[in-house]
Amino acid sequence: MQQYLDIFEQLAQQYLQQDRPVSKPIKAEQLKQIINLSLGKKGTELEDLKQAAGHYLNYQPDTAQVDFFKLLYSGRNNPALLGDWVTSLSNANMHTYQVSPVATLMELELVEQLNRLVGFTSHTQSGDGVMVSGGSQANLIAMMMARHHGLPNIKTQGFGNQTLVALVSDQAHYSSQKAVNLLGIGTDNLIAVASDDQGKLCPAALTTAIETSLQKGHKPFYIGLTAGTTVTGAFDPIPECAAIADQYNLWLHIDGAWGAPVLFSQQHKHLLKGCQLADSFSWDAHKLMNVPITAAVILTRHRGMLEQTCAGGGDDYLFHSDENADYNLGQKSIQCGRRADALKLWLSWKAIGSHGFADKVNRLQALKHYCVDQISASDKLHMIAPAVYLNVLFQYRPLTPLNQAQLRELNIALCKHMQAQGCAYVDYAKYQGETGIRLILANGDTQEKDIQRLLGHCLEFGNQLVAN
Ligand SMILES: Cc1ncc(COP(=O)(O)O)c(C=O)c1O
Repeated sequence: MQQYLDIFEQLAQQYLQQDRPVSKPIKAEQLKQIINLSLGKKGTELEDLKQAAGHYLNYQPDTAQVDFFKLLYSGRNNPALLGDWVTSLSNANMHTYQVSPVATLMELELVEQLNRLVGFTSHTQSGDGVMVSGGSQANLIAMMMARHHGLPNIKTQGFGNQTLVALVSDQAHYSSQKAVNLLGIGTDNLIAVASDDQGKLCPAALTTAIETSLQKGHKPFYIGLTAGTTVTGAFDPIPECAAIADQYNLWLHIDGAWGAPVLFSQQHKHLLKGCQLADSFSWDAHKLMNVPITAAVILTRHRGMLEQTCAGGGDDYLFHSDENADYNLGQKSIQCGRRADALKLWLSWKAIGSHGFADKVNRLQALKHYCVDQISASDKLHMIAPAVYLNVLFQYRPLTPLNQAQLRELNIALCKHMQAQGCAYVDYAKYQGETGIRLILANGDTQEKDIQRLLGHCLEFGNQLVAN
């Protein structure tokens, strides 16, 4: 064991001290030539393992750097990292209290605290929840609970010939498509309801879509709102949609995978006004809260619903009726083996407190305003979507007009060029027919000077690309 600890320490020291670009793009075919990926019958030397782990780190984009703007997370969370290491060391399994006593109690505390923030737990009710493998699984479980709520017999008898219909906005994350596929509802029966010019689901279009599916003899059962859409960070209107869900007796879910942490902030929690009216809520701690992947939770206002929906089997060998049976979380989950993700999130929350998360949201929102102001002041950078949250979607446009296809090509080239030069790592995205640079502000260490450098590079490289 000691040899492995030594290797880890050496690799970690090197990785953390190295002054290197945020990413080193390399073609897969080239990388295959550099690393010996073949697996054989005979084992190998420790030195080969060290070399392979070194390659792994060397070619891995550095998600901790302030120049990493590509995904919905960035930065390093040391208490959570400690938790991740200890979790791997322990190899705990979250199905039963017996084999994960402390992590189970930590997970229960996290679910309780998150439910308080959402408003599912109050002096009159007590919500429920369980940690899942990510926002995609959280959205899947939400839809499964909705199906069980609307048509409980499907769990045991299957579908028969009824057509169920789920409704989300046309800006919703693609995990809803996976969920309808997995649950046997069918991707044709996922309705993408129109969003408005702010990227928010349009309540009138939602009512029309429900009425249309009822007229066809279909059974709508689920409305999935998004709090912080993936491309533009829009927040769907909750109270209006909650009234519609009530009127038609539909399950109302909020996908807060990205936007949920605004609930920590007194200043910004209005974005989720009315969220306590939902039936379920997805929360990814591995996005803005920057806990190493994966750390996510599905929450619900209805205590017992997770278990009713997910439970089944395992009583004869795993879920013993002992004195701690009430603490076995496995029956609330669709997994058997489940990693103890609670420790890293709990340690990180313990270290900085709810105020620490609130400060991060407030600071990044202020930085977002600065960034948008800088873009608006430039004659060649243009916002292509409103930025209510931490997504800034903008286009570089030269002064000589280009059509949207040319602008798309230019902006994609600009993102790739910046990355190839070892500058900021940003992504591009399409929104309402326009393709622009999607900048995600998720790193708590990012400063105004980092934004200035990035926008400066956009202008410099944009001008160069146009000139060539
Ligand atoms: C709004 C939203 N929901 C759900 C997901 C899926 O989350 P995960 O990657 O944790 O499965 C994402 C991922 O980006 C997202 O942006």
